[in-house]
Amino acid sequence: MSESRTAEAEPKQTAGTDLHLELSGEGSLRGRLMRALREAIRSGRLVPGTRLPPYRSLAHDLGIARNTVADAYAELVEEGWLSARQGSGTHVAGRAAPHPNQERRPQRRTRRRVLHDLMPSSPDAATFPRATWLTSARRAVAAAPNDAFGVGDPRGRPELRETLAEYLARARGLRTEPDRIMVCSGFAHGLRLLGSVLEGAVAVESYGLDFHRGILEEIGLHTVPLAVDSYGARIDELPGTDANAVLLTPAHQFPTGGPLHPERRAAVIDWARSRGGLLVEDDYDGEFRYDRQPVGAVQGLDPDRVVYIGSTSKSLSPALRLGWMVLPGWLVDDVIAAKGPREMWSGVVDQLTLADFFACGAYDRHLRRMRQHYRRRRDLLVSTLAERAPHIKVSGISAGLHAVLELPENTEDAALQAARRQGLALEGLRPYRHPDSTMRPRDGLVIGYGTPPDHAFAAALDALCLVLPDAP
Ligand SMILES: Cc1ncc(COP(=O)(O)O)c(C=O)c1O
Repeated sequence: MSESRTAEAEPKQTAGTDLHLELSGEGSLRGRLMRALREAIRSGRLVPGTRLPPYRSLAHDLGIARNTVADAYAELVEEGWLSARQGSGTHVAGRAAPHPNQERRPQRRTRRRVLHDLMPSSPDAATFPRATWLTSARRAVAAAPNDAFGVGDPRGRPELRETLAEYLARARGLRTEPDRIMVCSGFAHGLRLLGSVLEGAVAVESYGLDFHRGILEEIGLHTVPLAVDSYGARIDELPGTDANAVLLTPAHQFPTGGPLHPERRAAVIDWARSRGGLLVEDDYDGEFRYDRQPVGAVQGLDPDRVVYIGSTSKSLSPALRLGWMVLPGWLVDDVIAAKGPREMWSGVVDQLTLADFFACGAYDRHLRRMRQHYRRRRDLLVSTLAERAPHIKVSGISAGLHAVLELPENTEDAALQAARRQGLALEGLRPYRHPDSTMRPRDGLVIGYGTPPDHAFAAALDALCLVLPDAP
């Protein structure tokens, strides 16, 4: 447990520093607190390096709101009087007290620093398996035939497509063969390639990545929102749309967090068969399920009606830019034609390395380790909230690298503003909502618990607890 967590758990005591602050004079409480802190630093009562008490205990001691203390600290960090380091609290900045006139100089407005990153985008970058990746790279490059270093086949290296066919059948329940697999530089690239061979409208989940909707719309494909409930996307709405394809996240709806109900998995295949349509299955984090074995991909139900797209962005790193599409046989030539006559996106060394990484079992081992790692993170998030903000519900299944915190109506904006003040990067639920959706907007926070390094995670949760709305 970090120091600040300990202090937060004991709000009645002023942790550490004995601060004699007089909030006298004119102005807001925040302004008076800032003046008192500046005066204490200038006079030498607070020396560089001194750790300030956590917001909650200083707020308790002074009888003011903890947001007032948080705001005052944040402003003084921007002014240079204090410094805040992820995981180690707020300190008096490590330099001589400013010149007396400096305080009066106009301050240049700076962007607030991110102290805690709970954005729902990345895995824990510190866990990238550098040593095993290097071992695979060395072995793969040494074993590669000379033609691997010539012009690349747009479908990708055969070594990678072969290991992918084996892995996806075994781990994700796909039915495929290497000739139906195309390597791409991640989901977004796969979607763009596929979109260029589709026509008409594409149905999407009412909550999803606007970036992915944007890719389809840039290509000229209209997107139609399907409502999302706790069973996933409302497949019964599909026949009422003019869509020929539907983009879904069946294993773990992004971002709301539920799996697609088995009846809806069957229903989407029925719809695709009767319509001659296509399911685009985004399996971005399907391997990360913590309460049970991962559910297999929908593709296994009908490989001729599903384009399955997977990626290393959650399992290894979003910087690798490696993914794969598994295509129905009748679409393969069109998608190859869309990609062009030669590989332009995915480097051969990374492709061969990933093939070796799969083949030697390193990918499975890495996933096993990461499941434990993220499961612990999720459990800590859930237990911290149960203890300190029991009125906030964590929705969605125990899976993936993010969770949604359900907020009372009309509190999302205030929570995001408070997060910015805390230097806490996170996202609200509203930006994920399709602009044409008829669903009632939900207030929530989408918390990526994968990103912070281990040592900073508890402090990030502390900061998170401070920005949540109080119990009604
Ligand atoms: C919903 C969703 N789909 C797909 C991806 C993977 O995208 P890419 O492979 O383009 O990095 C992500 C992010 O990792 C995601 O959040």
